[in-house]
Amino acid sequence: MTASVSGSPKDRVLIFDTTLRDGEQCPGATMTLEEKLEVAELLDTMGVDIIEAGFPIASNGDFEAVSLIAKQVKRATVAGLARAISADIARAGDAVRHAARPRIHTFVSTSPIHLAHQMRKSEEEVLEIITNTVTQARNLIEDIEWSAMDATRTPIDYLCRCVEAAIKAGATTINLPDTVGYATPDEYRAMFRAVRERVPNADKAIFSAHCHNDLGLAVANSLAALEGGARQIECTLNGIGERAGNAALEEIVMAIKTRGDVLPYETGIEATMLTRASKLASAATSFPVQYNKAIVGRNAFAHESGIHQDGMLKNAQTYEIMTPESVGVSKTSLVMGKHSGRAAFRNKLEELGYSLSDNQFQDAFERFKELADRKKHVYDEDIEALVDQNIAMAHDRIKLVSLHIVAGTRGPQRATMRLQVDDRIVVEEQEGNGPVDATFNAIKALVPHEAVLELYQVHAVTEGTDAQAEVSVRLSADDRSVTSRAADPDTLVASAQAYLGALNKLMSRGARLHAQHAAE
Ligand code: KIV
Ligand code: ZN
Repeated sequence: MTASVSGSPKDRVLIFDTTLRDGEQCPGATMTLEEKLEVAELLDTMGVDIIEAGFPIASNGDFEAVSLIAKQVKRATVAGLARAISADIARAGDAVRHAARPRIHTFVSTSPIHLAHQMRKSEEEVLEIITNTVTQARNLIEDIEWSAMDATRTPIDYLCRCVEAAIKAGATTINLPDTVGYATPDEYRAMFRAVRERVPNADKAIFSAHCHNDLGLAVANSLAALEGGARQIECTLNGIGERAGNAALEEIVMAIKTRGDVLPYETGIEATMLTRASKLASAATSFPVQYNKAIVGRNAFAHESGIHQDGMLKNAQTYEIMTPESVGVSKTSLVMGKHSGRAAFRNKLEELGYSLSDNQFQDAFERFKELADRKKHVYDEDIEALVDQNIAMAHDRIKLVSLHIVAGTRGPQRATMRLQVDDRIVVEEQEGNGPVDATFNAIKALVPHEAVLELYQVHAVTEGTDAQAEVSVRLSADDRSVTSRAADPDTLVASAQAYLGALNKLMSRGARLHAQHAAE
């Protein structure tokens, strides 16, 4: 069974986005419930076919996120992940049951190394598990995806037997992941061809590719799988995911769109939303996008060398295989200043792809005015940083009210900080080895916690000495790590906001923090 669009000579490829599951699984990329809902809404609007919303058995928070996304999403299929365990499948079924199009995605390892060391089961035992768990899932919901974890290191004969059993038990999509990012494109293509040729009931399922990027081959492997007969690709925004990440959605979509001559497929993705989606994912996870990242990196359409600039001026096609506009990059970046009014600001937000509620708009406009008072030119990037931060902070329990720093060559540096914790205001003064240390010491005194600072990074949002500083902070506690990002023309304010953002994320995940001390 292939998904094709009537009247089109091109085969339709289903885009299965797993930013909220495999993407969120990578250390530090934790998203809050509100952030997940926002990402899901954008994925749905953008035309993603299947949204993997999470792993419902993993925690109550995950279950709640998947259920709310299932209720909110209008168009896309919403999938919940489940191991090949009865309780997992029941929980996933419960979480997605309110979706317009629900799916349970269940998986089990099939490779000898996983069977011997992780599962401690024989091949025959795993075959029986596949039949039982897929049958259980299919009795709950019609749309069932089954994945052979570590498929690329599974002997082909056994893989074919597993796939046949899964389809026989009712799986409608068969996913053959390159779980450890080991395959090459030729091998991955050949595996799909072999399985589809050899499994007698293969025509009753759609085949899916799921690639990790350990050798930098995730996108190439996913595209090769299409030649092998796969018609679903599993991917994430900005390629985030376990270890080196998953195949990047924006790269898959634009490779298919740009190279239709050799890749005769189409997706349902509105490519002009890719830049916005990438920025939202980056803001929600606080994972910066590398400057030279294909399609959505800051430099993806920048031409620096004289020869390139000369060619571009004569004809853009000399050095550009796709236009910035085709992925949603706006032509001009210089935008507004302190004289810009509400209408212009609203217009700019729409152009950047935001649709804010009245309250969110009001907050964002006030922050924009404050910024425009302090900074001569407000660029698109400044507005994006400001709005994303506003959205991320909307549900924070701890908020920065004020920060006063004494710094300079004659130490010790000192920070006086005022915080709002729930509805109480608390104040503290602390010294430190430098102003950042003093700022973080003040936070620790106000909100005692055991979280460890894993990363502190600063870079400028735009150019110029009045540019906003964007600070990333990663904290870890109880085997969980979260990252938060904040921007402000004052580096120390941005540092405090980023640290507090990470603390808020940890608190919303129930880590051991002692905010009550601050509220006393
Ligand atoms: O990489 C993998 O094998 C997975 C499965 C759960 C599909 O993420
Ligand atoms: Zn994966």
